[in-house]
Amino acid sequence: MYKIAVLPGDGIGVEIVPEAVKALQAVGKKFGLEFEFTEALIGGAAYDELGHPLPAATLELCRHSDAVLLGAIGGPKWDNLPVELRPEIGALLPLRKELELFANLRPCVLFPSLLHASTLKEEVISGVDILVIRELTGGLYFGEKKREKTPDGEKATDILTYSTYEIERIVRFAYQAARKRRSKVCSVDKANVLESSRLWRETVTKLAAEHPDVETAHMYVDNCSMQLIRNPRQFDVIVTENMFGDILTDEASMLTGSIGMLASASIGGKVALYEPSHGSAPDIAGQNKANPLATILSAAMMLRYSFDREEEAVTIEQAVRRVLEEGYRTPDLMEPGKKPLNTVQTGDLVAEYILGG
Ligand code: IPM
Ligand code: MG
Repeated sequence: MYKIAVLPGDGIGVEIVPEAVKALQAVGKKFGLEFEFTEALIGGAAYDELGHPLPAATLELCRHSDAVLLGAIGGPKWDNLPVELRPEIGALLPLRKELELFANLRPCVLFPSLLHASTLKEEVISGVDILVIRELTGGLYFGEKKREKTPDGEKATDILTYSTYEIERIVRFAYQAARKRRSKVCSVDKANVLESSRLWRETVTKLAAEHPDVETAHMYVDNCSMQLIRNPRQFDVIVTENMFGDILTDEASMLTGSIGMLASASIGGKVALYEPSHGSAPDIAGQNKANPLATILSAAMMLRYSFDREEEAVTIEQAVRRVLEEGYRTPDLMEPGKKPLNTVQTGDLVAEYILGG
């Protein structure tokens, strides 16, 4: 029996998470796996109900589960709260830190039937298959932040720190992942300007010598953002620090057709967290319009990485592939001649195809 903490969160989170639960239930039925889903509040929803975006009970539940499924957090309603109560800083970051989820995996894979859905040219994106590995518990997100009054007005500071230990563990992780793929690692930094990036690059260079079977490249982050849309097929595994990874993965999501397709797994500690890479999309929340596929594909990653259930993971991915091949699309992927589906219909169809319908 797998115990799963279910944290829908805010905005479209409450719409997409139930569709991923449906997919897991369908897989459970087909393969005889038992899941126990326990829901808890996080983000703005938790703040409204309990006065804190990460209630102690939610964190406890996550710690005692086998995996966590998260929707999205945040929204304009909570943007002006004191910083420590904001859903991002008060809930998502501490959750990642507490669970020691230092490695965030974001696979940017283009389903062939979505070749025309992207705003990018087909010949550029066809065959894209990149795994971005983002360091998730260090860097600017977690460095000291402060405000001071000065004669020139206020001064704001965010500190960017990385230790050799933090760099080594994420880079080693990237090498292991690359060995199971096309054996190429591209490390992304800004070593021409930042000291933390120079340590990053030196550390990668040392580790490269230990992994002669893997091709190692270094790239500046500005160049990488350009290369991702110029020639994305040059990349296999990209490994980078927290904030660069945040920015580059939103960009890379367009290689897959829509940010609504980009799944993610955050791993490293005892309990891993699975969430789509996108946010709570307040502009379309509550309208049954959101694309649940990134969340459903994150559930597939849960089966693969937390439970070592490859066949079950592939079954979900194939059901998603079939939905797209048959021309069904949520609005974010819509093209002329395709068949519109809402959030719930998409989840129902994926579940049906998992069960072999
Ligand atoms: C992501 C999101 C988060 C991040 C936000 C919501 C804090 O953008 O998971 O990419 O920046 O890590
Ligand atoms: Mg982001």
